[in-house]
Amino acid sequence: MFKKAYEGHYAVGAFNVNNMEIIQGIVAAAQQEKSPLILQVSAGARKYANHIYLMKLVEAAIEDTGLPICLHLDHGEDFDICKACIDGGFTSVMIDGSKHPFEENIEMTRRVVEYAHERGVVVEAELGRLAGVEDAVKVNTKDATYTDPDQAVEFVERTGCDSLAIAIGTSHGAYKFKGKPELDFARLEKNTNMLPGYPLVLHGASTVIPSFVEECNKYGGKLDGAQGVPEDMLLQAGKFGVCKINIDTDLRLAMTASIRKHLVENPGDFDPRQYLKPARQAIQDMVAHKMRDVLNSSNRL
Ligand code: G3H
Ligand code: 13P
Ligand code: ZN
Repeated sequence: MFKKAYEGHYAVGAFNVNNMEIIQGIVAAAQQEKSPLILQVSAGARKYANHIYLMKLVEAAIEDTGLPICLHLDHGEDFDICKACIDGGFTSVMIDGSKHPFEENIEMTRRVVEYAHERGVVVEAELGRLAGVEDAVKVNTKDATYTDPDQAVEFVERTGCDSLAIAIGTSHGAYKFKGKPELDFARLEKNTNMLPGYPLVLHGASTVIPSFVEECNKYGGKLDGAQGVPEDMLLQAGKFGVCKINIDTDLRLAMTASIRKHLVENPGDFDPRQYLKPARQAIQDMVAHKMRDVLNSSNRL
C-alpha cells in the first residue's frame, strides 16, 4: 500500500473509528472514490467499543465491500496492547514510544517489530513529539521535539519499523495553531531525502474544516479558535514522502456538526437513526472530499 502511494505521490488516509456509522461512512467514501484506506483504532476506541466489536465491524465492511482494508492500532503505548491487537487480528500496529528517551523508544519498538513481523503484521513507530500550540513558534523547542533526520535514519535501521511518524509541527485535536499555521517542510524534506523510498506518517493532520466548526457553533456548540492543517499543506506533504495521513478530528466534527444541526432543526426527533443517518452521510461526503482533493488517493485501487 505504501509502496504504491510513495511511487504515485499520494497519501493513504488513516481514519480513526469508534462505531458502526463512522466505519460505514468512511468505507462508503472509499468505495465511491475507489481509494485505498486504513481504518485505525486507538486505545480509547478499544475501551469504548471493545476490541471484538470493532474487529467484527471491520470484518463486515471488508466482506460487504471487498475493499482491501488495513486495520491498524493507533498510538499503542506498550508491547502488551500491540500484542493484543496482533493476536486479535489487526494487520498493522503502531508502537508509540515517542515520549520515551531515544534508546528506550528503540528498544520497545524493536521488541514489537520482532513479534509483529513473525506474524506478518507491519509496524509504525514514532520519533519526535507532536507540537503543542505553544511549541510551534519557538525555534529551540522545535529542535528539541521535532524529528531529527539523522536520528530517524538510525531509528529505522535499528528497529526495522515499516513506517515512521514524524513531528514537523502538527498536533492532535481541534486547536493546532494559535496564529498562522506553520509546518517545518524543510525538515520534512530532509527526513525524506535521508530515508529515500521510506514511508513517513503525518499525525494530527485534520484540517479542522471551517464549515463544520461554524455549523457546530451556529447550533449551540462552542469551538472558539479551532484551527487545523490547511489542505494545501497536506497536499504538499503527500508529495514529500508522507504516505499515511491520520484523520480523526475532522470525522468528529463532521458527525457532531450534522447531529447538532439535525436536532436543532428537528426538535421532535428522538430516534437515533434520524440523526445518525445524515451524520453518516456527512462523514462519507467529507472523507470522499479528502480522498479526491487532499490525499490524491482516488482511483488508485
Ligand atoms: O491520536 C489520537 C486520536 O485522535 C484518537 O483519539 O485517544 O481520543 O480515541 P482518542
Ligand atoms: P487529528 O486530531 O488531527 O485528526 O489527528 C488524528 C491522529 O493523528 C490520530 O493518530
Ligand atoms: Zn496520532
